[in-house]
Amino acid sequence: MNIVRAKDYEDLSRKAANIISAQVILKPDCVLGLATGSTPIGTYQQLVERYKKGDLDFAGVTTVNLDEYRGLPRENDQSYYYFMHDNLFSHVNIPEGRSFLPDGTEPDSEKACTDYERIIREVGGVDLQLLGLGHNGHIGFNEPGPVFEADTHCVRLTEQTIKANQRFFASIDDVPKEAYTMGIKTIMHARKILLVVSGEDKAEAVKNSFFGPITPQVQASILQLHKDVTVVADEAALSLINA
Ligand code: F6R
Repeated sequence: MNIVRAKDYEDLSRKAANIISAQVILKPDCVLGLATGSTPIGTYQQLVERYKKGDLDFAGVTTVNLDEYRGLPRENDQSYYYFMHDNLFSHVNIPEGRSFLPDGTEPDSEKACTDYERIIREVGGVDLQLLGLGHNGHIGFNEPGPVFEADTHCVRLTEQTIKANQRFFASIDDVPKEAYTMGIKTIMHARKILLVVSGEDKAEAVKNSFFGPITPQVQASILQLHKDVTVVADEAALSLINA
């Protein structure tokens, strides 16, 4: 595991965008696995700037997102579909129809999940998967539990995650309680992983995930077994370890 220390959030965003840019430049027809959440927003802004300057071309790129709320229509501004369009897709030249997310509008969860695994297979697997890190060590919506769930599946979100998401909704009752998420095997199959993490409130999660035992109680700890993981973290997130 390669830990890259960033001074602050802006530096983190630049460094993460450098790694994604290198991937796109070296393999223009690559498959990027993408994440939502607040941490990657600065990274996406950097990518958009580079595209607008003419330094990056997404014409050959395919994207697959980690997860999506179940039951939110795409046009709901809290859907991950909306988030990705707002923060990245509508600002760069990824071809129409080459950006995939689990279909949160599909009520049959088994179908939604098997369809998504098929899409990931059909696009040839993920070259570079971008991840954020939850306070409890979750990646995607893979929450602490007795096992690592392998494939894309439907999860009931934990109270902690529902509360963390509450800031994006009018009331806690509006926060979706279920989501479709790539599983741990799906994530671990990515050829490269880039995890971005920022802030002192994530320092404990960083310590538990990358310097503690590998356990499904801390889902990100499995990343210790992946052969090509880069963690870009700011000083605050690294404050409990000596990287
Ligand atoms: C997002 C996702 C989540 C977030 C995590 C961190 O697609 O799957 O695992 O990456 O909750 O979120 P932020 O960046 O908001 O702290």
